[in-house]
Amino acid sequence: MNKGLFITFEGADGCGKTTQLMLLAKYLKQHGYEVLVTREPGAKGLGERLRDILLNYDGEVSSKAELFLFLADRAQHMDVIIKPAVAAGKIVLCDRHTDSTVAYQGYGRGLDIERIKTLNSIATGGRKPDLTFVFDIDIETSMQRVGSQKDRMESSGMEFFNKVRNGYLAIARQEPERVKVFDATKAIEDIRIDVLETLRMFVAKM
Ligand code: TYD
Repeated sequence: MNKGLFITFEGADGCGKTTQLMLLAKYLKQHGYEVLVTREPGAKGLGERLRDILLNYDGEVSSKAELFLFLADRAQHMDVIIKPAVAAGKIVLCDRHTDSTVAYQGYGRGLDIERIKTLNSIATGGRKPDLTFVFDIDIETSMQRVGSQKDRMESSGMEFFNKVRNGYLAIARQEPERVKVFDATKAIEDIRIDVLETLRMFVAKM
């Protein structure tokens, strides 16, 4: 594997994707790969400011404004951080990306999904993740894990999160080659093994 790779980690809040991302990063680094760990919203620089608005601003934010803030963050992230890293041969592990916008702003908030896909494509210059891991969790478990300290997005309610979850499952059905779903209620170590196996199979086919 000397070509760069772009892998995204997705799922509803509290699904454990960040834990799995860190475990995979550790494994890959131990095996000599150059890895870049990053996230949306809010990679380094401008992204940190946008993240603060998206998660902490307590005034009214329209759904459309929210969408464009996520997309602004994505455009910057793609151009300044992700594309150069992949071009340099790194394995980029990104916590949330385009599918979050389809799931949260599209399926969750009810904005037009086809339009979001077009806007995503403008923001990324058409570069899709090579592989996407979705960690599927029931909403009750998710809420228990998130606890009482919720940010602006996490305060959107149960109905919203059910829509987000179903959105992710719909995305996976539409793009089964790219998007792989894991049962996030399983033990961390079991999920880690499943993730690794999926990555191995993907790399073998490259
Ligand atoms: P974060 O604290 O990073 O949560 P998590 O650990 O669950 O990833 O918060 C990101 C929040 O932003 C999360 O609730 C999902 C939401 N989000 C969107 O609604 N649309 C997007 O395009 C992205 C990238 C995130």
